[in-house]
Amino acid sequence: MHFGQLLVVLITCTGLGLALPTSDQRVLQRFPSLEQAAPRELEIGELNFLHTTDTHGWLGSHLNQPNYDADWGDFVSFVEIFRHNRIGASRDLILVDTGDKHDGNGLSDATVPNGRISTEIFNKQDYDLLTLGNHELYTEENTILEYHRTAQSPKFKEAYVSSNVEFVTDDGDIVPFGSKYRYFETTNRKIRVLSFAFMFNFQRANARAKVTPAVAIFEEDWFQNVVRQFPAEKVDVVVVFGHLPITDPEDREINQVHTKLREIYPQTVIQYFGGHSHIRDFAVFDDRATGIQSGRFAETVGFVSIDQVGDGTPNFSRRYVDFSKNSFSQHAKAPLYTTRGSELSNHIQSIRQNLELNQVVGYVPSSYYMYSKPTTSKHNIYNLLTSQVLPRLRSDETDESKSRFIIINTGSIRYDLYKGNFTKDTEYIVSPFPNDWNYIEVPLSLAENVADYLNDGPVLYSSMAPPKISNMVKGPASCPFIHDPDLRKGYTTSDDFGCDGDDMLHNTELYFEVPNVVQTVELKQIKSETAVHLIFYSFIESDILHALNELSKSQVGETKLFTENDCKKYGGASTKQLLKEYIQELSLHT
Ligand SMILES: *[C@@H]1O[C@H](CO)[C@@H](O)[C@H](O)[C@H]1NC(C)=O
Ligand SMILES: *[C@@H]1O[C@H](CO)[C@@H](O)[C@H](O)[C@H]1NC(C)=O
Ligand SMILES: [Zn+2]
Ligand SMILES: [Zn+2]
Repeated sequence: MHFGQLLVVLITCTGLGLALPTSDQRVLQRFPSLEQAAPRELEIGELNFLHTTDTHGWLGSHLNQPNYDADWGDFVSFVEIFRHNRIGASRDLILVDTGDKHDGNGLSDATVPNGRISTEIFNKQDYDLLTLGNHELYTEENTILEYHRTAQSPKFKEAYVSSNVEFVTDDGDIVPFGSKYRYFETTNRKIRVLSFAFMFNFQRANARAKVTPAVAIFEEDWFQNVVRQFPAEKVDVVVVFGHLPITDPEDREINQVHTKLREIYPQTVIQYFGGHSHIRDFAVFDDRATGIQSGRFAETVGFVSIDQVGDGTPNFSRRYVDFSKNSFSQHAKAPLYTTRGSELSNHIQSIRQNLELNQVVGYVPSSYYMYSKPTTSKHNIYNLLTSQVLPRLRSDETDESKSRFIIINTGSIRYDLYKGNFTKDTEYIVSPFPNDWNYIEVPLSLAENVADYLNDGPVLYSSMAPPKISNMVKGPASCPFIHDPDLRKGYTTSDDFGCDGDDMLHNTELYFEVPNVVQTVELKQIKSETAVHLIFYSFIESDILHALNELSKSQVGETKLFTENDCKKYGGASTKQLLKEYIQELSLHT
């Protein structure tokens, strides 16, 4: 940040009615030294977008990660000031979200129903386009809440779009989940936008929602009517936003959508916004179409601009903005304060108090990571679980004299465990799922191969985890690592535009593959025909049975079919509880 530049900005924006400190001295004090590093600039174009996705309830900031220290109130302030200072009256800004607003943080998950309060907080942001993710479709009460409070809210009546998800009413009628498309002209440049929103082909929606595969929508009458009503000469930009990855080497859903769209709009500028796989990503589809995906858990605001929209040679630019007060105020070129934003921040604080999310239950002596340390490291959270936590499992249903294999799916852990206070919120963040333990008695020779079998296959069907990031070839490996201890640890994103997407330079966080399952093995005898106890989460029982039956077929050649009748209740505390007790015990000794 250049001081001279800041002064100029202060003078120019006092006319906008924003509440600004009167002296530049006060402004400068807001930036601690480490954060004074200037971010890479946002290249403002004729048409600009800000994008969030997969926020999963993280509206109350990341209290253990200074990179991402902004809350939803700060985000509201940022957009308001950014719009005034950077967009002005001659360019346009469109604000987009692509769903997954539950499951991941106490702010959403500590209420009944889940999302009761966080939905209202989320909806304070003035989205122009928003839609839902698969996490709005697991439970009926979430779907009903999403439909009534957001899709049907007066504020978002125009903005809420879902082209391939429908809602099932109390009477069993199938109705659109919001609008099926949105056509509008931007405020300033009168750019004509036609937008659709697609959910990936999600097959586990509850009975109150219906998902139709995106490609099938192109054959439906309503869709054909819309594209007939808005032919290429009436559309400047097609915006396709939705809950699906923009790089999808396996299912290629978005690529199929693109192929079909290009048949209808061969030359039109198309901008995609995606989500679900929880990464920063940018993909070039052709010279008039790009897509962005903006991370996870409210640590990223994606920025895209398009210049020369109408000239046949659109110029795209992209940036991933860290969800931090520093990044926000530097890009807005003003202090991060609006009345509305700061009121919302205060409101979030008081909700956190009411939900007792700050209540301390223990102290974590050092950080444990999911991806940035290998599973062999003692700073890896799965290593912690298998070596220290799962061995604490005690059965209240059966004897424990047998050898044990305790298998958990890695998708049941959702976040790194950071050094510092272990609070009620930490429980929701790291391992929110309550679980029951089941077990099955099988020969050692079978049990010892189950984990490998499951790790060779696709992500477990029963997992609520996002898909494996199989396109991690796009990860830091292909961009130069940054080794600079003066920088904060974080992303070095590699995408189709190169290595300069992140607004802040980070000390590159490494990424290691995580298997589908991990296990604790306690061997008491070592003859292969010996019966052992194979213990697992009840919700991965079908995956375990499948593995056992396949292994049994190939090993023994015989077809003893294991069924749920062979599985029994093991009892004992959940992983979440065992972890908490372990941390509490550690805290007593330190
Ligand atoms: C496209 O934008 C970049 C900056 O974002 C600029 O350097 C470049 O000159 C632009 N290209 C054209 C053809 O305008
Ligand atoms: C951690 O908890 C202690 C005891 O409740 C409290 O005094 C301290 O402020 C907390 N630290 C942080 C960073 O919240
Ligand atoms: Zn998600
Ligand atoms: Zn998702």
